[in-house]
Amino acid sequence: MAKTTQFASKLGLIAATVGSAVGLGNVWRFPAETQANGGAAFLIIYIACVFLLGVPVMVAEFALGRAGRSDAVGSFKNLGARKPWWAVGALAILASYMILCFYMVVAGWTFEYLAASLSGSLYEGCSTASTGYFTAKMNEMTGEPGGVLVNTYIVIVLNIAVLMLGVQKGIERLSNIMMPLLFIILLILCGVSLTLPGAGEGLEFFLKPDFSKVTSDTVLNALGQAFFSLSLGMGILITYASYFPRSTKLTRTAVTVSMLDLLVAILMGFIIFPAVTSFGLTDESLRGSTLVFVTLPEVFALMPATQVWSVLFFLLLFVAALTSTISIAEVSVAFVSDRFSTSRVTATLIVLLPIFGLASLCAMSQAPDTTLTIGSVTVFEFLDDTATNILLPVVAFFTCIYVGWFAPPKLLYREVSNRGSMAVHTHGLILFILRFIAPLLTAVILISRFI
Ligand code: PHE
Repeated sequence: MAKTTQFASKLGLIAATVGSAVGLGNVWRFPAETQANGGAAFLIIYIACVFLLGVPVMVAEFALGRAGRSDAVGSFKNLGARKPWWAVGALAILASYMILCFYMVVAGWTFEYLAASLSGSLYEGCSTASTGYFTAKMNEMTGEPGGVLVNTYIVIVLNIAVLMLGVQKGIERLSNIMMPLLFIILLILCGVSLTLPGAGEGLEFFLKPDFSKVTSDTVLNALGQAFFSLSLGMGILITYASYFPRSTKLTRTAVTVSMLDLLVAILMGFIIFPAVTSFGLTDESLRGSTLVFVTLPEVFALMPATQVWSVLFFLLLFVAALTSTISIAEVSVAFVSDRFSTSRVTATLIVLLPIFGLASLCAMSQAPDTTLTIGSVTVFEFLDDTATNILLPVVAFFTCIYVGWFAPPKLLYREVSNRGSMAVHTHGLILFILRFIAPLLTAVILISRFI
C-alpha cells in the first residue's frame, strides 16, 4: 500500500537523513581508518569515493523510495519489479536488522561513557593519564556486560519511544533538535583542540598526504567506509525517501547529505589528531578502535575542565549513535507496518522487543570466555562482518543494476527531474555510474572480501 506519511519540512528531512548518515562511522571508524591509512592520502581517496560512488547510489535509493512510496520491499513491488528484485529489498531489511542488533550495543557504550562522564566516575582514581585505567574500564565494559546491558536497554527504550511517535513527531522532531546540537558541540571541540599547544603536528598528519601508505586495501577501506557512513545498502534511504514530498530535489539532497556527513568526519579529524599529538598519545596501543573510547578520555584527563570536555564529547557520540539506530530500526518498522498493515505502535514493538534479547546476546558474546560464537567468531563479529562486508555491497550492487538497467524506463530521470518539472544536468552521468562504475566497484569490494 502506498503511504501518505511525509516529512513536514525540508530542513527536517535533511536533519533526519543526516542524522542517519552521521553515526559511529564518522566519529569512531573514520579517524581510525584515516590514522591507519596514511592520513590525508586516505581522506582524498575517501572524498573521491563519496562523490563518485556514494552520491549516485544515494540518488538511486532515493529514486526507488520516493517512486515506490513504501518500505524497502514494498517500493520494489510498487514499481512493478519482477519477483527476484524485491528480494533485494528483503536483503536490505535483513542487513539492517543484523546491524541493529550490534549497533545498539555500541550505542549503549556511548551512553555508558556519557553517564560516567557526567557522574565523574570515568575519571575517578585517575589523577594522571594512565592508559591502564581506561583499558581496564574498556575490558570491564566488554567483559562484564551487566552494566552495558542496562545502557543498551535504555537506548532501546528511547528508540521505541521515538519510533512510536511516528515520522514527523518522533524522527523528524528529534533530528531537528539533535543535529544542530551535534554541530554546535563539534565546533566547540574543534576550537578547543585546534588551540592546544602542539596541535600543528596532528593537523599536519591529517592534512599532509602520505601516499606511501596507500595500497589497494586503502582504496577498498575508503569505499567500504563511504558505504557505511552514508548508510547505503541498508534500506534506510529507500525508506526515508518514501517520506520525501514530490518537490524534494533528490540530487541536491544527496549532495547536501553527503557533504554534511563528510564535514562531520573531517571535523572529527580536526578534533582527534591535534588532541592526541598535543599530549603525545600516539603510541601504537592507542590507535585504531581504541582511539575514541580510550585515547580521548586520556586526553580529557590531562586537560583542565576534564569533565566538561568529556561530557560534550560523549554527548556528541551518543547523539550520533542514537539518530542512526532510529533510522535503521525504522527500516523494519516501516516494513512491518506497511506489509502487514499494523499500527506503528504494534510494528515498533514487533521490531524492537526481540532486540532486547538479540542485543544482549551480542553484548555477552564479547566476554573473554564467551561460548556465544558462530564458527570461529563471536555473535557480535559475525553480525557485523556478514552485514557490513557482504550484505551491504550485495544490496548496493543489485540496487544499481535494477535502477540502471531494469527499472521502469526513465524512473531515474522522472525522479531526479521531479517529473520533468526542472532541468537536470547530471542525470546522464549518474545513470552511467549506476550502470557501469558502481556495480563494478561494489563487485570488487565483495570479491576482495573472499580473497
Ligand atoms: N551511517 C551510519 C554511521 O556512520 C551507519 C549506520 C546507520 C549504522 C544506521 C547503523 C545504523 O554510523
